[in-house]
Amino acid sequence: MNLNKIIELDKKYYMNTFGDRTAVCFDRGEGLCLYSTEGKKYIDFMGGIAVNAIGYSNSCFTQALHSQIDKIIHTSNLYYIENQALLAQRLVELSCADKVFFANSGAEANEGAIKLARMYFYKKGQGHKNEIITLKNSFHGRTLATVAATGQEKYQKPYMPLTPSFIHVEPNDTEQLQNAVSENTCAILLEVVQGESGVHPLTNAYLSAARKLCDDNGILLIYDEVQTGMGRTGTMFAYEHFCIEPDIFTLAKALGGGVPIGAICAKDFCCAFEPGEHGTTFGGNPLACCAALAVLDIFEKERLVENSYEMGNYFVKKLNEMNSDKIVQIRGRGLMIGIQLCENANEVNKKLFERGYLCGTVGDTLRILPPLIVTKKDIDSFIDVLEEVIA
Ligand SMILES: Cc1ncc(COP(=O)(O)O)c(C=O)c1O
Repeated sequence: MNLNKIIELDKKYYMNTFGDRTAVCFDRGEGLCLYSTEGKKYIDFMGGIAVNAIGYSNSCFTQALHSQIDKIIHTSNLYYIENQALLAQRLVELSCADKVFFANSGAEANEGAIKLARMYFYKKGQGHKNEIITLKNSFHGRTLATVAATGQEKYQKPYMPLTPSFIHVEPNDTEQLQNAVSENTCAILLEVVQGESGVHPLTNAYLSAARKLCDDNGILLIYDEVQTGMGRTGTMFAYEHFCIEPDIFTLAKALGGGVPIGAICAKDFCCAFEPGEHGTTFGGNPLACCAALAVLDIFEKERLVENSYEMGNYFVKKLNEMNSDKIVQIRGRGLMIGIQLCENANEVNKKLFERGYLCGTVGDTLRILPPLIVTKKDIDSFIDVLEEVIA
């Protein structure tokens, strides 16, 4: 189908939540490349918004999915599921968590983490402890509770009244965080690097202070690693950079390599759900867990976490070497990079697109989230084009 026809159908039949999208439709991908229905090749430095960590059409991934589809796609959670048990084991062995629950998206995993935190105190007979402190400029998803958790008015305003008991404080301001803690606080929920608001990392000192506050006051520390997890920042989970462990963390995005799956990962002591108190129809089904298991195999085989760390450092070095007066600041970790420009980043992004490069923007910041398979050569080519475009 040609692009105009696709756009016509979209405008007529699809709810317009995404506005005027970039006028392109991809029908094939390979490695770092996407090919449009019009036959044009693009190099993807946005990775499906941090989803396509293993790149496109990885043959180990597609073969694993094909053989799983041939066997079984879905059984309900009324029965034991081999892939689910194996994936839970893999994630526990890789992280500080003791137990895992699978959902279908990042928002759903966060929603479950919020419920888990409240359930923990409810079971302790402290049901009044139901307030969750989150940060301004955070993003935690689009369900009603995660919209309330998200510290950005633009996502909240039309949906009043919001789910109550979320308190928002300035990121990296320890005093505000301390002052926000009360006898009703049950958890602090943070992104270690805030992604959707333009790639803003939290400091080591702030995370230490948050951990200490939680320990001193007997409250839970939850990291939203939906975007930062799965090697994005150069370690498997972003908290590893700081050696400051959460009690609960959430994953989604890259975990399934494009097949929807989210995860709540928690330490034993706060695994408060009992039978019937949380659940899902699709979450953790054989196909989704097969996808995530294959993703983890590919991460190991292709050393993608190490590559994310090395290529992230290389990328930032090359950006610094550009020495451009158009670049105000370079932020991020690993392959989660924000390039703050001295102008709105949309124009630059449009020019990159015309030259066959896909990136994202938030205000004056260009967002870079390439698949973790990116090489020095790919980065060099991108830097050449970026230099040309912003000159
Ligand atoms: C940090 C963070 N949390 C949660 C979400 C929501 O994830 P999903 O869109 O899979 O519901 C996102 C999505 O961008 C995110 O970046």
